[in-house]
Amino acid sequence: MVWKVWLYICFAMASAHKAVSAIYITINTIENAQMLARGLVENQLAACVNIIPGIQSIYKWEGVINQDQELLLMAKTRTELIDELTSWVKRNHPYQVCEVISVPITGGNLDYIQFLLNNTKDASIE
Ligand SMILES: *[C@@H]1O[C@H](CO)[C@@H](O)[C@H](O)[C@H]1NC(C)=O
Repeated sequence: MVWKVWLYICFAMASAHKAVSAIYITINTIENAQMLARGLVENQLAACVNIIPGIQSIYKWEGVINQDQELLLMAKTRTELIDELTSWVKRNHPYQVCEVISVPITGGNLDYIQFLLNNTKDASIE
């Protein structure tokens, strides 16, 4: 019995970081970037969003190669909120097809990861 509890604690500690992900979103203007970042944090869909200005994006759209100045948003949130975050961004983003991609967080400062969990909504209790 005791070993089961011990195993459970080990599993919970080892997997705490897997509960969180980083989401990358690109957008055209600083005003739109701030609107998205604030909205995500206000709705507890992300605990923290960094806005990285000055990126250049080169991509093919409808057969034509484009080169645009954009900004990159890096949001950190619970992995279980990715679908809800994605729908929210799609509803509030000016592009027809917006970039929203996620990568799992595989480690790091557990205090920071706890901060991410503390400041995002718990989708399981809704
Ligand atoms: C997270 O919340 C718990 C419970 O309220 C608190 O004890 C802890 O200090 C918080 N941690 C961070 C990093 O915010």
